[in-house]
Amino acid sequence: MTNQDYVQLNRTGDKMPLVGFGCWKVSKDDVENTIYAAVKAGYRLFDGACDYGNEAEVGRGLKKAIQDGLVKRQELFVVSKLWNTFHSKDHVRSAAEKQLKDWNLEYFDLYLVHFPVPLKYVDPKDKYPPSWYQPNNEDSLEFERSPMHETWREMEKLVDDGLARNIGISNFNVQSVLDLLSYCRIKPATLQVEIHPYLPQKRLVEWVQSQGIQVTAYSSFGPGSYSGMSEAGKTTQPLLSHDKIKAIADKYKVSTGQVLLRWAIERGIAVIPKSEHEERLKSNRDVFSWSLDKEDQKEIDSLSCGLRFNNPDDMGLGLPLFA
Ligand SMILES: NC(=O)c1ccc[n+]([C@@H]2O[C@H](COP(=O)([O-])OP(=O)(O)OC[C@H]3O[C@@H](n4cnc5c(N)ncnc54)[C@H](OP(=O)(O)O)[C@@H]3O)[C@@H](O)[C@H]2O)c1
Repeated sequence: MTNQDYVQLNRTGDKMPLVGFGCWKVSKDDVENTIYAAVKAGYRLFDGACDYGNEAEVGRGLKKAIQDGLVKRQELFVVSKLWNTFHSKDHVRSAAEKQLKDWNLEYFDLYLVHFPVPLKYVDPKDKYPPSWYQPNNEDSLEFERSPMHETWREMEKLVDDGLARNIGISNFNVQSVLDLLSYCRIKPATLQVEIHPYLPQKRLVEWVQSQGIQVTAYSSFGPGSYSGMSEAGKTTQPLLSHDKIKAIADKYKVSTGQVLLRWAIERGIAVIPKSEHEERLKSNRDVFSWSLDKEDQKEIDSLSCGLRFNNPDDMGLGLPLFA
């Protein structure tokens, strides 16, 4: 792996930064300032989603950064995602248009199908973001008979009509990628999935990359964001303070966060760490001036144990999506 700080996407050749900024759980009160600080620190990729409930605030942070001359729109790489309740061919377009309006943008650089899970439509007037459950049924998920080939056709039209430069997928496994590849006119540019040393997803990553699809890792720091969401998130030893990661960080005189991000980047995987602390968000980008020795990569690989934190089944949703 070279120290190049981007990967190139299939079809458009767009350069996607290898380190971006994750917008999930950025506190609503301070989103604009956090995003502004992230642009100032050099972040160009922002990873958002309808489900994060803060797209308008993130958009305002970016707008201020553009107005103040910190960055131009065309230098940014904005990512957003289609939520599960908008999979129907009748709702993809309106969902994307609403999101673009919230961001105050004319196009997304990359628009992903968030999960391969079609849920019953929820009118944004009734609940937005809709989340997993229906407003009138908090007990079980209600699915919509909306096949992915119809959703994807609409995603492709977003590209045709200039609303998205690239389209991609998230939380798909090999079977669902393979199916999509059998009918797509526009191949997905990226796959975004959970990846960290407890869940390296080695074969999934290798296979997807071999298909010309770039991979983005989410939750690079492991359980951190899930402590209030699942038992595994609560009880698992945090990677950021794990002895093995600490020893490696000390060896290179970097932080444990930097070790975890560098470990992914060396596999050609893009990362999107989230932090609301200026020092951390700066250091999370500083991962290109050094590299991990083979033995240290192996030491980190040895933590692999198939532990997944973003599993709808462990969050009381009754959906074994990754079974
Ligand atoms: N596609 C999907 O289904 C999906 C699912 C989950 C996440 N994502 C995306 O991936 C992004 C990142 O994943 P994530 O939010 O799960 O979390 P993450 O980036 O793995 O971890 C964030 C947590 O780590 C802390 N942190 C960040 N940098 C640190 C550092 N250098 N040292 C110590 N602590 C540090 C943050 O706290 P502070 O803010 O206090 O620093 C926060 O608690 C999300 O924001 C979202 O954009 C996508």
